[in-house]
Amino acid sequence: MSEPLYVGIDFGTTNSAVAVARGKGAATLLPLPNPASTSGTSSTWRTVLYFEPGGKLTAGAEAIARYRETQGEGRLVQSIKSHLASASFARTTVFGRRWTIEDMIAAFLRQIRQAVGPAIGELGTRCVIGRPVRYWGAEDAEDDARAVTRMTAALATAGFSDVVFEPEPVAAAAAYAARLTSAETIVVADFGGGTTDFSVVRVGGPGNGEILATGGIGISGDAFDARIIDELIAPAFGKGSRYRDEMGGEATVPAWVFNNLRRWHYLSFLKEPQTQRLLHRVIEGSLDPVSIERLRTVIDDDLGLVLHQGVEAAKLGISANAQSELRLDHGVDLKKTLLRNEFEKWIVPDLTEIDAVMTRVLDDAGITPAKIDRVFATGGTSLTPAVRAWLSNRFGAEKLVGGEELTSVASGLAAQAQRHFG
Ligand SMILES: Nc1ncnc2c1ncn2[C@@H]1O[C@H](COP(=O)(O)OP(=O)(O)OP(=O)(O)O)[C@@H](O)[C@H]1O
Ligand SMILES: [Mg+2]
Repeated sequence: MSEPLYVGIDFGTTNSAVAVARGKGAATLLPLPNPASTSGTSSTWRTVLYFEPGGKLTAGAEAIARYRETQGEGRLVQSIKSHLASASFARTTVFGRRWTIEDMIAAFLRQIRQAVGPAIGELGTRCVIGRPVRYWGAEDAEDDARAVTRMTAALATAGFSDVVFEPEPVAAAAAYAARLTSAETIVVADFGGGTTDFSVVRVGGPGNGEILATGGIGISGDAFDARIIDELIAPAFGKGSRYRDEMGGEATVPAWVFNNLRRWHYLSFLKEPQTQRLLHRVIEGSLDPVSIERLRTVIDDDLGLVLHQGVEAAKLGISANAQSELRLDHGVDLKKTLLRNEFEKWIVPDLTEIDAVMTRVLDDAGITPAKIDRVFATGGTSLTPAVRAWLSNRFGAEKLVGGEELTSVASGLAAQAQRHFG
């Protein structure tokens, strides 16, 4: 008889990954098909779905490949996880079919399940799934419970009926503990796409895995992207510009259009019919047609992913260099320079809020920074120099360790699955 399989799934706002452990073995990441990678696979999938008019539906790297092949004639949905806690988002219509948030996530998970088939065979019905300490947008316990209920339903539809939820920064601590030989009290700081999550955990010795405190907030990579949109993109897309309405009066293009533009999980829904009607009225009467035309191109041609990838590439550029170029082609024709020192000013309010959460978490744990042995920084956004500088300031640069930015949570979840189900 083969050894039992323990499955961990990191359903991330931006990237998702699956890790498994066999018996008492170490967790390994499962390869996911990726037509864009030279090996044909990658350890993470972009958390996106692509709906085509004919009914075809793809997820992850395959969705991105189809999006490119069909030049965006379908609908690409990004950052789906950020809708989970929202009472106002229940369903949307895509090419005549109504989709609940649960259906969309189930479709994504089903495709993940199929995609790992060649590497591992059947995943079975059990898994440990990650969850942020606080789901994006959740304002109270009811919102949070809604997110868990929806996620549970989506998992069940995708064949996972026996599920344990584990906080993502606790899973990341388990991944970090796998490297350790001695006991440490650590802070895990997981800066993802949607949320920033902290945990204070004792690892690697007696009391291994004891959680002293956790905390989180819906400010992370997507929020940083929103700052770039606000400062560099929205003004060139007609933010604040005026248009003549049907009655001949003048009005400012509604601000909510730009609020939807700056949030990847709302952007996908600017193609809803009522938004389309308003936009077309704005376009016809615009007093700044060049800018508004860019906005129209992005929405009508479904360039949400092109916009996201353009902004992200520029953001990654300033993680490595003092400046980078933000380019949008595909008929948008926009070229801007992004400066790291400007970006660092734009995100000050975000880092201030994140800092307050860290203060609370340390208080809850009853510990001072001096008593922390190590800070494990993970999640893609932890690669932002300003984020690392902030952690270094708080705890001392010598305590900061990183690694497995996009995969530590999945590995840790598989390790947790061994504990829960083993
Ligand atoms: N080098 C880099 N510099 C700055 N940001 C980066 C870098 N690499 C990736 N990111 C950002 O990291 C984020 C994705 O990180 P990650 O995959 O850890 O998030 P996630 O797990 O999908 O989200 P969450 O945990 O919030 O659900 C994106 O916002 C991406 O732009
Ligand atoms: Mg994550």
